[in-house]
Amino acid sequence: MLKIKALVGAMALAVSAASVSAGEVEVLHYLTSSGEAAAVNVLKKELEKEGHSWKDFAVAGGGGETAMTVLKSRAVSGNPPAAAQIKGPSIQEWGELGFLASLDDVAKQGKWDSLLPPVVSDVMKYEGEYVAVPVNVHRVNWLWANPELFKQAGVAIPTTWDQFFDAAEKLQAKGIIPLAHGGQAWQDATLFEAVALGVGGSEFYNKAFHDLDQQTLKSNIMVKVFETFKKTRKYIDADAPGRDWNIATSMVINGQAAMQIMGDWAKGEFTAAGKNAGVDYVCLAAPDTSGAFTFNIDSFAMFALSDDEGQAAQADMARLVMEPTFQETFNLNKGSIPARLGMDRSAFDSCAHASMDAFVASAQTGDLVPSMAHGMSTNSRAQGAIYDVVTNFYNSKNLSAKEAVDKMARAIKASL
Ligand code: GAL
Repeated sequence: MLKIKALVGAMALAVSAASVSAGEVEVLHYLTSSGEAAAVNVLKKELEKEGHSWKDFAVAGGGGETAMTVLKSRAVSGNPPAAAQIKGPSIQEWGELGFLASLDDVAKQGKWDSLLPPVVSDVMKYEGEYVAVPVNVHRVNWLWANPELFKQAGVAIPTTWDQFFDAAEKLQAKGIIPLAHGGQAWQDATLFEAVALGVGGSEFYNKAFHDLDQQTLKSNIMVKVFETFKKTRKYIDADAPGRDWNIATSMVINGQAAMQIMGDWAKGEFTAAGKNAGVDYVCLAAPDTSGAFTFNIDSFAMFALSDDEGQAAQADMARLVMEPTFQETFNLNKGSIPARLGMDRSAFDSCAHASMDAFVASAQTGDLVPSMAHGMSTNSRAQGAIYDVVTNFYNSKNLSAKEAVDKMARAIKASL
């Protein structure tokens, strides 16, 4: 059962959803790059069309670490925003603390259970009740490439790690930066999990980053993952430390770097820059992961409010997010695919189609895996433990892969 405070809020939410009073929704999010801002603007417009007002609470910082810190301090001081971009197991953490309002009434009316695949709806529920609404499904294991630079270097865009290193050598020999990267912990972790999936496969990945299985974490395969991950460092430029992910994407867009390994929010940047998939840029699964899909689902959770207008606005926002109009327009801008099933695909590009197909196919083969780097596979403590080791190892001159493996296994154990 939800805690009392949230339950009262939930009941009021259900009642006021039927009324027409306009309210304000303060929305905390970290959607601040060009593509992300275009996407979040869709939600703002939809809400304003209903007569509600949008109070923007944007906290910059890719991956949302800073936004989550700010959210915690607002919540602890008893003044949380009406809605926040929260996802994965941390929805459960907020539910347990009793902060969230139930959206079950809106969800029942809108038949969300039949509109969402279970892999999505399961994450949105706390103790069986909807407490969050999904805006999209991101595929994280992507490689973005500038085909012109590959032509110049006379080499094919890689689909395996062997090919990746071979191509990287040739690109570098031509004076081209092979891999655009931003040295921030979450970006290091994004690259690391792509390597882990490619080198170890889905079963290994799940055992390590979902089950947090010590034997897998300490295995020789994990040593190979760390070694392969470290090898990529030779192919990033000296200015990578601290660089934001969208700046790294712009290097691929502008022809300064040949590739980026990043989730498909990067596609939002190509779109915002007026570039076309398959022409100006190429999307391929990250090396050796073509049959797999690392998922990252963005969602908004609602915080229990006491005023009727605010609750009505929250209910409207939750309803609007699930509408086909929103799911299409938001995702065209964001680079992701709709969370809602049965949507018309015609407005989407070839990368989105590939993502939609891979999402369905990977669910059948057991290759649909939750993103560790984006908070879908573990709670925030275990994720933080992995981040620390991964980023320290990537930047260290003398830590061996074997030592990093032992450190990570121990850090995860201590976080449980
Ligand atoms: C992810 C998030 C995406 C995108 C990205 C960069 O964690 O799910 O929506 O915002 O970080 O900030």
